Amino acid sequence: MSTDQRFFDYLKERIGLDVASVGPAIIERAVRQRSTVSQALTADEYWRILQGSPDEQQALIEAVIVPETWFFRYPESFAALAKLAAKRLADINHIRALRILSLPCSTGEEPYSIAMALLDAGLQPHQFKVEGMDVSPLSVEKAKRALYGKNSFRGQDIAFRDRHFSAENEGYRLSARVLEQVRLQVGNLLDPNLLAGEAPYDFVFCRNLLIYFDQPTQRQVFEVLKRLTHVDGALFIGPAEGSLLGRLGMQSIGIAQSFAFSRQSEPVPEPLPTFVPTPMPVRPPVRGVTPPPVRHRPFAPTAPQAITPKTPDTADLLTHIATLANEGKSPEARAACERYLREHPPVAQVFYWLGLLSDVAGNALEAQGFYRKALYLEPQHPDALMHLAALLQSQGDTAGARRLQDRAARSERAADSERKR
Ligand SMILES: C[S@@+](CC[C@H](N)C(=O)[O-])C[C@H]1O[C@@H](n2cnc3c(N)ncnc32)[C@H](O)[C@@H]1O
Repeated sequence: MSTDQRFFDYLKERIGLDVASVGPAIIERAVRQRSTVSQALTADEYWRILQGSPDEQQALIEAVIVPETWFFRYPESFAALAKLAAKRLADINHIRALRILSLPCSTGEEPYSIAMALLDAGLQPHQFKVEGMDVSPLSVEKAKRALYGKNSFRGQDIAFRDRHFSAENEGYRLSARVLEQVRLQVGNLLDPNLLAGEAPYDFVFCRNLLIYFDQPTQRQVFEVLKRLTHVDGALFIGPAEGSLLGRLGMQSIGIAQSFAFSRQSEPVPEPLPTFVPTPMPVRPPVRGVTPPPVRHRPFAPTAPQAITPKTPDTADLLTHIATLANEGKSPEARAACERYLREHPPVAQVFYWLGLLSDVAGNALEAQGFYRKALYLEPQHPDALMHLAALLQSQGDTAGARRLQDRAARSERAADSERKR
């Protein structure tokens, strides 16, 4: 039985899933699986069963969704949230609890990470409430159970597990203190009455869902997300989902790797001066590689230098660039990058920073060029891969974006298994 267009159309209409984004194989497999379970012998027969049974509709949705998630995914966004939340509470004179939405919340790792981040930052339980929502009742059930296996703890820093979980035979159980901060429910982002009548949220997380939508659906959904986000609040999205927001009048809040956007019309140049640069700026030298001679042009016709060993001087300069960029001092950061490239052999990290600076300034074409140079020098540079993917996605090159995301995921997996050795 071949999967015909009506199943693709049905899933697009119900949950926004775009067959071109996920590829037909995932949907075909789900339809095959559900047809077998329903004992349908033909596509027509399964289609009839599907039309007449809300349970079967839900089962097909469960079979195609991608519930992939883990605690503190993109850790910088949680650090940024903690700082923004403290500021927001002060701005509203602490007169009410902050309202935070995680949609989609999948199996709960994201809304619980929000709660842990805020409690760890010193917020009191009465100062915030988190709502998690997902179209999958099974995922929401798992989220409510709050019992997690190793796969939910993937980052390098999992000290939060000791603070907020207790080990049991079947996994790690979340503490009641965190659990009580989060309310979970089933809901569809495409529902026209979604959270109608609810006051806007101070912070909305909508990450890693929009990549499965086509552009018209993304546009429609962004309008909904804008309505749900308080005018003085922030919207957090996934790394590959940013560029369309700019065109819809939202601005990056300027914190590298937080993927957070505000509704303000003016960008905030120095939003959080205390932001600590992420470990990304300085990569450790590779043992046994001889430093190449200093070149004065960023590109030499010879083979690329994957990772250049750094003398203390160059390491300092890279840290300096990172600090300037993270503080929102774009012209100074750019000048420091250019100086670096005049005085040192080219390194991927500097081109990455130049890409990011061009990106933030709205110069997508220039940003693309810099990200590509970074990848020429260091083909698995994770941040360059991620940001270039986001740019391609915003230009409608979904296939190109996915290729880069896959590459980033592969290299993350390789780095992970390297670490475990
Ligand atoms: C990859 S997970 C993302 C989870 C989390 N936000 C993160 O970034 O780790 C995608 C989730 O989107 C949910 N989903 C898919 N379509 C949806 C829709 N139309 N409305 C709400 N949730 C949806 C799926 O059930 C799945 O749990």
